[in-house]
Amino acid sequence: MELVDQFLRKINYLRISVTDRCDLRCVYCMKEKMEFLPKKEILTLEEIERLSDNFIDLGVEKIRLTGGEPLVRKDIIKLIEKLNYKKNSTNLKEITLTTNGTLLKNYSYELKQNGVNRINVSLDTIDEDKYNQITRFGKIKNVFDGINEAKKNKIKIKINTVVFKNFNEMELENLIEWSNSNNHDLTFIEVMPMDETDSPRDLQFVPLNKIYEKLDLIYNFKKTNDNTGGPAKYYKSDKLKIKIGFITPLTNNFCESCNRVRISSTGKLYMCLGQNDYVDFREIMRSDRSDDFIKEKIRFALSIKPKKHDFMINSEIKPYMKRHMNVTGG
Ligand code: GTP
Ligand code: 5AD
Ligand code: SF4
Repeated sequence: MELVDQFLRKINYLRISVTDRCDLRCVYCMKEKMEFLPKKEILTLEEIERLSDNFIDLGVEKIRLTGGEPLVRKDIIKLIEKLNYKKNSTNLKEITLTTNGTLLKNYSYELKQNGVNRINVSLDTIDEDKYNQITRFGKIKNVFDGINEAKKNKIKIKINTVVFKNFNEMELENLIEWSNSNNHDLTFIEVMPMDETDSPRDLQFVPLNKIYEKLDLIYNFKKTNDNTGGPAKYYKSDKLKIKIGFITPLTNNFCESCNRVRISSTGKLYMCLGQNDYVDFREIMRSDRSDDFIKEKIRFALSIKPKKHDFMINSEIKPYMKRHMNVTGG
């Protein structure tokens, strides 16, 4: 079975946000004072599993759990265990996670035991004070300990770094060298205009084409065709053993090859990260509808998946998305 959208893009990648909560408050992601959802609004483990089953029946091969921070959800390992089991009998091939890494020390062993072989860790700086500043109160030691534990358990790590104006632009070479010495691929990401944070987006945004040009002078990048199924364009360098990726929704649109949809922690299916339309599956599941009905609605959602996002950042207008990144986890 294959899921294909109205533009004939094959959709085989489902991102599920398992909680809107997070133990950090990254300044480009959240406001200092955030209100989180009451538990009854969040999908139960059974509801997430039921939705996943329907997507897998229709052709989804890769599931990424996100948040907020996915590891703050109490029953996360139980969910991963259940999903992992499905790899034996369905076309599901990979379960992975995008995490801030703070809780990896406790969870790496169980993640590996339950079939998670590769994770993406968000880390915007390797400087202790700056980390504390960008996350508003995070302690970088927790992330380093977490990464070490993941490594010990043979989980492959990719680092995600949001390039934030006047914050880490000057530090990216350090991050590359650190990632290279630890053998983690590294991806730089452009700030996206997801809802309001405490400063305007145009004061946060750095176009990555400029960053690429600067780094290219040092590393003499060579384009690769490597593709993890994600939006990053990857480069190699004779000076590095790792790959460097660039995710450039604003300066170089990649929507043509989009292969994913995302479910929020409350069961809303967003067909595009950069659009506001959704189909509410929590309502459908809580009103006792059949799996056939769910599948019909999934097909409908795909038939209206937009061609591309509408992200735009400038000082004049604020066409921000009506939700923060923690609703869909990117
Ligand atoms: P890989 O499987 O490693 O390729 O992961 P990925 O890049 O799909 O996932 P990850 O969670 O690491 O996402 C990295 C960044 O890319 C995050 O900031 C996401 O918000 C962003 N991203 C992921 N998918 C999309 C997308 O479809 N559109 C846009 N604009 N950004 C995306
Ligand atoms: N723009 C770009 N990336 C963001 N992230 C959170 N908010 C934003 C934003 N507004 C990143 C996190 C993490 C990933 C899930 O999304 O740092 O790497
Ligand atoms: Fe938490 Fe990730 Fe948002 Fe930072 S970017 S506040 S770690 S959800």
